[in-house]
Amino acid sequence: MAFESKIKTIEWVNNVSRMIDQTILPKEFKTVDIKTCEEMYFAIKNMIVRGAPAIGIAGAHGVALAAIELLKTVNDKTVFLQKLNQKADYLKSSRPTAVNLMWAVEKQMEIAHKTQGSVNDVTKALINNGIKLENEDIEINKRMGDYGAEVVPKGAVILTHCNAGALATVGYGTALGVIRSAFAKDPTIKVFADETRPRQQGARLTTWELTQDGIPTTLITDGMCSYFMSKGMINMVIVGADRIAANGDTANKIGTYTVAIAAKYHNIPFYIAAPLSTIDISIKSGKEIPIEERNHEEVTHINGDWICAKDVNIINPGFDVTPNELITGIITEKGILKPDFTESIKKAFS
Ligand code: MRU
Repeated sequence: MAFESKIKTIEWVNNVSRMIDQTILPKEFKTVDIKTCEEMYFAIKNMIVRGAPAIGIAGAHGVALAAIELLKTVNDKTVFLQKLNQKADYLKSSRPTAVNLMWAVEKQMEIAHKTQGSVNDVTKALINNGIKLENEDIEINKRMGDYGAEVVPKGAVILTHCNAGALATVGYGTALGVIRSAFAKDPTIKVFADETRPRQQGARLTTWELTQDGIPTTLITDGMCSYFMSKGMINMVIVGADRIAANGDTANKIGTYTVAIAAKYHNIPFYIAAPLSTIDISIKSGKEIPIEERNHEEVTHINGDWICAKDVNIINPGFDVTPNELITGIITEKGILKPDFTESIKKAFS
């Protein structure tokens, strides 16, 4: 049975947002109920929920939770909307790189501003739209899966970086969704998963997801990919994205750029799988993508223990930008976009 049919990564249940706590996987499987906008900010910032599409849905739920709280004290619609705007800005500031968060929160605010009637009606509309975005996310991933499976060669060994799976979305996944769809057609395909320092999303989350679905998966450390490419042991790369600029430059988990350079050198196709909500057509190139700088302890510590000299300098960007010329195609719910990406992206949005 596919992972996504057993549980959703994030789901609206009885006026709370229920999510899998991704900080403790794979040791422990636990869901947490997020009841307020402030709790949602904390959950996104501290990566209880992570992955671009999943934090988009978290943001949408966060706006609905903010409305439910505001309802208790504010009756006047203008004041209600003003305060809701402030909460929306607060949610958007929880993580800077994945544009799906801004996209989903802004979608909610459009609904809030255009809903006629009372503050109660606005709140109901926000809850319903959050649930709608949730359901659409799974449908979109399956559509991407169908398109992407077409370009996976028979018996391919696919390298992926970070976790762009069911856990990074509501269910099914983007890059891992393509792998799931390809595996359904061809059970001889195999996956190599980069461990993804420093947060280990590849080791902790991708291997957990894929092995549950019976997809043969080999875990490698981030520095190993060129070696396996040079041995002819990797046939293609598929990764997710956090923000794609109008020219196709793509921000994804730190280390993705290195994989893309290695793939180019070895003549291996390098695909991005991402919904159109990850494409930020307001920015011309990857230079404009804000890169999150994360806590230095992610680098200096492993499982709470120091692993380096105490007075060493640390720098910890969470993402890097892969230039469009290293990308073979961008798998979206509207088909596979090919270079020239400025043209193909423009067409996908028209
Ligand atoms: O820091 P994270 O774990 O939120 O980073 C996640 C990634 O970089 C994913 O590859 C990306 O969000 C695509 S998820 C479908």
